[in-house]
Amino acid sequence: MRRSIYIETYGCQMNFADTEIVNGILNEQGYELAKDVDTADAIFMNTCAIRDNAEQRIYGRLSNFEHLKKRNPHLVIGILGCMAERLRSSLLEENSSVDIVCGPDEYRRLPALIDEAFQGEKGIRTQLSRVETYNDIVPLRTDGISAWVSVMRGCDKFCTYCVVPFTRGRERSRTLEGIVGEVRELVGRGFREVTLLGQNVNSYLDGTNDFATLLEAVAAIDPELRVRFTTSHPQDMSPRLIDAIAGRPNICSFIHLPFQSGSDRILELMNRTYTRAHYLELVGRIRARIPGVSMSTDVIAGFPTETEDDHRDTLSLMEELRYDGAFMFKYSPREKTKAWKMGDDVPDDVKGRRLEEIIELQRRISYENNKALIGGTERILLEGPSKRSQEEWMGRTDTNKSVIVPKAGFSVGQYIDVRIVSATSATLFGEIVDEVSTRAA
Ligand code: 5AD
Ligand code: SF4
Repeated sequence: MRRSIYIETYGCQMNFADTEIVNGILNEQGYELAKDVDTADAIFMNTCAIRDNAEQRIYGRLSNFEHLKKRNPHLVIGILGCMAERLRSSLLEENSSVDIVCGPDEYRRLPALIDEAFQGEKGIRTQLSRVETYNDIVPLRTDGISAWVSVMRGCDKFCTYCVVPFTRGRERSRTLEGIVGEVRELVGRGFREVTLLGQNVNSYLDGTNDFATLLEAVAAIDPELRVRFTTSHPQDMSPRLIDAIAGRPNICSFIHLPFQSGSDRILELMNRTYTRAHYLELVGRIRARIPGVSMSTDVIAGFPTETEDDHRDTLSLMEELRYDGAFMFKYSPREKTKAWKMGDDVPDDVKGRRLEEIIELQRRISYENNKALIGGTERILLEGPSKRSQEEWMGRTDTNKSVIVPKAGFSVGQYIDVRIVSATSATLFGEIVDEVSTRAA
């Protein structure tokens, strides 16, 4: 009898890409993918450990699965990803329902772990690797418009707040040939957009080729394929890379470039390796070289020792940059990191208030930026139905903004030109001007 497996994925896009790799590995070994938890023989959670609240969510979900296991004692439960790597055997010791713990570099071992678990044996694999990139594994994806392609793994930056270097290990890159081959196949299957992924994607280096070369090679596969990438570190944003984005129309004019804090003192404590002035200078160069580029960022509120002055520096940097979007977080202390030893001295209510101010400011700026687009024309790639109505499509601009348009006989995967008629801080609304008949992104 074929056993069926269900995987639920949490956290960053890297985890979603990893789940497709795991599905590829399991599919190859003859496992079936269950459509929902109730029919599965084994349930996995691909987990995130970046902040404590991410982990609390996983524990909440795990308790649901424990109920299922009471009804079906043969059910196998496994933890994959960053929590598996961070907590290792304590996950087994403290959660009697968990049978398998498998870290991000050990997915090739999963079929063996699963077989053992079905024999009633618990198993754990959490060795990190300096070489594993799953370059040869074909990720199992459902057909669609947009695909995630992981190109490098791990992180060597050691920002002092971040657990990623501990849960995902050292940086290593797939080969350019492997990535280009995978994207070619995706294009053949009808995908119209790929996002190249890595914890630190722009430090990609396969021994010979850097990230600029990789981006150009992927963009050259098909001029109608949109190429995106995430997430970048300012330190690796080389002039060649900026030129590559500027020089290829199908490399999207959108850069996610986390600054984390606007205060030089905090940036230093975070080990971000740049100052506010460096960052501003870099953004100035990017904006001069790539007209119309859209940018977004990550911001942390309440890092150890952060004062009101430091916080105001973050707000003023946001005002100065006027980015289109931001992911904004309350600082969460993580064991093993350097910042863990700095204490967690900003009270939770202060962190919460600072975060609210950051969110409110970003909402206002995003709204103003979006409002300024009303009346103009944007080319969008239709990605799927809009969330609020079956009569509308959601498409995305080259600059990564969502636009809602009437369906009007068009289909997913088409490029169309739309006039923007209204906007919120998160979404644009458009009317159709024209179908795009020429090959252009
Ligand atoms: N606390 C809060 N936010 C964090 N991030 C990473 N580690 C932490 C932490 N300990 C944020 C950073 C990073 C994003 C992926 O998550 O902003 O860019
Ligand atoms: Fe974490 Fe910094 Fe690496 Fe990003 S660059 S994964 S924030 S250590």
